[in-house]
Amino acid sequence: MSHAHGSPSPVASRSGTPLKGRIRVPGDKSISHRSMIFGLLSIGETRVEGLLEGDDVLRTAEACRALGATITREAPGRWRIVGAGIGGLKDPSDILDFGNAGTGSRLMMGVAGSHPITSTFDGDASLRKRPMRRILDPLTQMGVTVVSEAEGGRVPLTLRGPKETIPITYETPAASAQIKSAILLAGLNSPGKTTVIEREATRDHTERMLQHFGASVEVALHGADGRAITLQGQPELRGTEIVVPTDPSSAAFPLVAALITPGSDVVLEGVMMNPLRTGLITTLIEMGASIERLNERDEGGETVADLRVRHSRLTGVTVPHARAPAMIDEYPILAVAASFADGTTCMQGLHELRVKESDRLAAVAAGLAEAGVEHEIQGDDLLVHGSNGKVRGGGNPVATHLDHRIAMSFLVMGLATAQPMTVDDGAMIATSFPSFLPLMRELGATIQD
Ligand code: S3P
Repeated sequence: MSHAHGSPSPVASRSGTPLKGRIRVPGDKSISHRSMIFGLLSIGETRVEGLLEGDDVLRTAEACRALGATITREAPGRWRIVGAGIGGLKDPSDILDFGNAGTGSRLMMGVAGSHPITSTFDGDASLRKRPMRRILDPLTQMGVTVVSEAEGGRVPLTLRGPKETIPITYETPAASAQIKSAILLAGLNSPGKTTVIEREATRDHTERMLQHFGASVEVALHGADGRAITLQGQPELRGTEIVVPTDPSSAAFPLVAALITPGSDVVLEGVMMNPLRTGLITTLIEMGASIERLNERDEGGETVADLRVRHSRLTGVTVPHARAPAMIDEYPILAVAASFADGTTCMQGLHELRVKESDRLAAVAAGLAEAGVEHEIQGDDLLVHGSNGKVRGGGNPVATHLDHRIAMSFLVMGLATAQPMTVDDGAMIATSFPSFLPLMRELGATIQD
């Protein structure tokens, strides 16, 4: 596969045999980034099992190395990090290049920005378009200096941190675990208490891992759906062991592939069932999907389950905005499932989709148009008019705009359309799910690159 800056490599999928078998998707991207970051900020050794070795996470590992961690890969998925500790970060000798990774770059702005060092952040053409003001604003309140930035608060940008950050209470302007996490991570180097208030609860991996590494964190309910998270600054984080559960956002692709491909019966092993990540499964079950949660157990402090997924007749539903934080990365693949449903699926309040790796609302709509799926964008809502199992497919190659989830979504679609689907570039799939093609082929999918 080509790299983001090389020539694009198109990939095509076509319908064929039913999907059958058992697979285990790679480790969770959010937890993998955080494993590196907490390893850096701890004293002593952190051992990680099941790390996602996707490009995004490897960029975060590089940045952690540049800031003083010693990081070694001992075996596939097994990594060892010897930390520099809070307050112990060193000036990086080079630009921190985060490639395509929004999570890595934003969380590391909280980490590097909260230390008395100068760090420069950059990334690929997709990352250079993404808004960073949402991170820079609270960091500035905490005493961080934005030395320079590209127009509109974007990368490349340079931060210089104070000796210690000022403890603040901050209500996030968007439901975003990245904003919450950047502030909490910056609050680690603060002499007081840092509080983040979120009106809608978002994924809580940072809070859980802070506690796991020895920090004192209080979580209180805030309003109907929100939370207030308070961190006591300057704890001594101690290196520990982490088992990374598998990524529900990656499992989403073979899961929907099995639902839409006639005759399919697939088991996805050990999928993380954190309730702040399972909005897609809730929605698909409402649509009539046959998804059985088997063998529920604890892995690395999270509940995981084997999911048995069978081809199902789906019916359109309305997905309320309140569910968005629990399925924020899953709307493109839900739109694919909705294309095969009977009736209309209305996904409400998708404004945050416009600032992901691509403008995902526009990218999904353009892909649906290529495949001949009727749909409408009404304000921030996406309506997909399903055609009860019969989707034409074909059209021009879908433009992926350096977005891994757009690429995987339309390749999954092509497994059940009348005509094959092509995406213009499969290279970015390696950012989050490097084994996507071999695992899908193992289930029997026909995908050619
Ligand atoms: C993530 C948070 C989400 C999500 C991203 C991972 C995280 O972004 O889209 O893939 O690990 O905190 P936002 O916080 O911007 O919604």
